[in-house]
Amino acid sequence: MKAVVHNSFGPPEVLTIVDVEPPTPRADEVLIKVHATTVTAAEILMRRGRPLWGRSVLGVTRPRKKVRTPGLELAGEVVTVGASVRRFAPGDQVFGFTGIGVGACAEYKCMPESASLEHKPVDITYEDAAAAVDGASTALYFLRERADVGKGHHVLINGASGSIGTYALQLAKLFGAEVTAVCSSRNAELVTELGADHVIDYTVDDFTTRRNTYDVVFDTVTASTYRKCRRALTPTGCYLPTKGLWNWPIAGWTVLRGGRTVRPGMSVEKRASLAFLKELIESGQLRIIVDRNYPIDDIVEAHRYVETGHKRGNVTVSVVSGVRQALS
Ligand SMILES: NC(=O)c1ccc[n+]([C@@H]2O[C@H](COP(=O)([O-])OP(=O)(O)OC[C@H]3O[C@@H](n4cnc5c(N)ncnc54)[C@H](OP(=O)(O)O)[C@@H]3O)[C@@H](O)[C@H]2O)c1
Repeated sequence: MKAVVHNSFGPPEVLTIVDVEPPTPRADEVLIKVHATTVTAAEILMRRGRPLWGRSVLGVTRPRKKVRTPGLELAGEVVTVGASVRRFAPGDQVFGFTGIGVGACAEYKCMPESASLEHKPVDITYEDAAAAVDGASTALYFLRERADVGKGHHVLINGASGSIGTYALQLAKLFGAEVTAVCSSRNAELVTELGADHVIDYTVDDFTTRRNTYDVVFDTVTASTYRKCRRALTPTGCYLPTKGLWNWPIAGWTVLRGGRTVRPGMSVEKRASLAFLKELIESGQLRIIVDRNYPIDDIVEAHRYVETGHKRGNVTVSVVSGVRQALS
């Protein structure tokens, strides 16, 4: 089968397309024919072997064999199932998150039936389904599990035009919050369409100069810090960073002290989230923003674009035919 691999850490050009043996599912696994995957900001870091502490998992000097094929999100069709699999059957259309094992940027991928895998929302393309996994479930995890966002809260979303940001904005509105979206002016129209009550252009205005304003600052791109945001938070408000090891000890300290807190987190288990998101998508309550779609043969170009840090929503990759899949 065709698979994208990288045998060293580095720039997009380390990615090549090779022929490898397709995987064989174990008893508890399903074999998925991957129709579409995505390129995410997290994978750019993984391809570069950054941050350095991450190499304890990724491989010290070069990527471990198991993480040489990128691709965290996928949508496709179940081809065969292992003997003990009950949730899925051949022919099922699915979408899911591969996690640290990555590997979705290939024609076939095996996943345990207990993994972050769900039946794909109906009436959307495989590309859109693949783009509705990591950003959406991460936004849901932070807003619901880490901040318990609800009616009457004022939530600021920093990086509102990115993958996590476009979902966070819509979910916070669905939960009844007042939402301030922070993005550059070229994305102001997009975030307004998605429901933002207020828009701040970060290139001309600094939201951290506000005082006692936001119950939640969700820093989806971790472009700011707790120290800068602290006074913009209400006295019991919280700052949600999506990355940065340093935020964990600060989080502990703020919890002990009380008042404004830092709440970092890792959205790992996504199965329940995917079922919830599928319903929102099917009922038309959650929009999936796809900025660009690339055929798998242009994977280097796709990584170059995502690496700019300025994609809008999501970047998808068509695996099966190299062209955006028709509605199925
Ligand atoms: N903790 C977890 O469980 C978890 C899970 C998934 C991902 N992550 C992390 O979350 C981060 C964000 O992921 P993502 O996929 O949402 O990112 P993304 O889609 O790549 O973010 C791109 C967006 O960020 C905006 N942006 C860039 N610089 C900005 C700034 N200084 N202020 C405000 N907006 C800015 C850009 O808008 P402009 O073009 O207008 O500048 C662009 O639309 C990644 O670093 C990833 O590693 C964490």
